[in-house]
Amino acid sequence: MSVTKKVCLLPGDGIGPEIVAEAVKVLKALQLPLEFETALLGGAAVDATGEPYPEATQTLAREADAVLLGAVGGPKWDTLPRPQRPERGLLAIRKDLNLFANLRPAILYDELAAASTLKPEVVAGLDILIVRELTGDIYFGEPRGIEMRNGERVGFNTMIYSEAEIRRIGRIAFEAARKRRKHLCSVDKMNVLETTQLWRDVMNELAPEYPDVTLTHMLVDNAAMQLVRAPKQFDVIVTGNMFGDILSDEAAMLTGSIGMLPSASLNETGKGLYEPCHGSAPDIAGQGVANPLATILSAAMMLRYSFGWEDPARAIERAVQKVLAQGLRTRDIAAPGDTVVGTAAMGDAVVAAL
Ligand code: NAI
Ligand code: MG
Repeated sequence: MSVTKKVCLLPGDGIGPEIVAEAVKVLKALQLPLEFETALLGGAAVDATGEPYPEATQTLAREADAVLLGAVGGPKWDTLPRPQRPERGLLAIRKDLNLFANLRPAILYDELAAASTLKPEVVAGLDILIVRELTGDIYFGEPRGIEMRNGERVGFNTMIYSEAEIRRIGRIAFEAARKRRKHLCSVDKMNVLETTQLWRDVMNELAPEYPDVTLTHMLVDNAAMQLVRAPKQFDVIVTGNMFGDILSDEAAMLTGSIGMLPSASLNETGKGLYEPCHGSAPDIAGQGVANPLATILSAAMMLRYSFGWEDPARAIERAVQKVLAQGLRTRDIAAPGDTVVGTAAMGDAVVAAL
């Protein structure tokens, strides 16, 4: 841990600044060799510069070793034309940094088991990681469009993956599995789609390089069923952009609490953008009641995946668990009888638990 790592902070809009401040508080408490610089993204950037991803932010984000983001958007900017919308800033930075791998853990802390819509015995102890390819697949494939054919409108998209694209996301997933319970389930629809036949072939070709990881395959429709039937059978799931979009939301909601879910988006150099799965929550912005834990857990992912600092990453995760075990809750995850605390008090409690 000798080299100082540069972290670009993009607090964004709504509750973004409040929750990023708590994550920074936790990172600073660990006394790691980290340097922070803050820039504008989303609505805050639009207000200041007219652009959701201004040049100064681009420069800082490209120079930094990792990016920690709050959230962007809000009703104030909803009437702007699309290119100036805050959400465009998010798409632009993902594309600019070539963040092709989206990692979304779904962890159910025992203390929050009541938040899930599934039976406690089905989800208790749940800890799965979805690795979703983020820059390819039918969302980006050409040709695409809606056109007239034989007197009627026809809509079409192209599902396409090159083996290089599959291999690089496959490697991220195998590496992630290696740091966990060493089971990787690749999800495809190879019985119907050639693209995903290639997906399965390439995953099988990679497997001998990771002899310590067990690779299995599952068709996406079955995976959707298994995630609600017996989610604990999974460790790491790797899949394409479209299937991953759907399955990662499904997996996230097994835990029932949007304020708890972190995410990472990585590129080939290991550089990543880390952010909570939730949005800017304009309905509670500025009130000091937002749950900062998803952002604090995103910071832990940053230490693990961008810097390879496993011990401090675990320390943060254990501190979060400890705080929950102490009965501290922000409003969104509180049940009757719990001690409800605000955003800053929750951050302080995590620091104390470190
Ligand atoms: P949202 O995730 O911001 O809020 C949904 C509900 O969850 C709200 O009731 C909110 O109060 C609550 N919530 C979210 N995060 C919370 C937290 N940390 N603690 C406590 N409660 C929390 O989604 P919504 O309302 O659909 O979108 C609001 C704005 O956020 C929109 O402008 C949307 O475009 C943007 N958005 C941005 C995202 C991003 O920056 N990655 C992702 C999703 C939405
Ligand atoms: Mg989605």
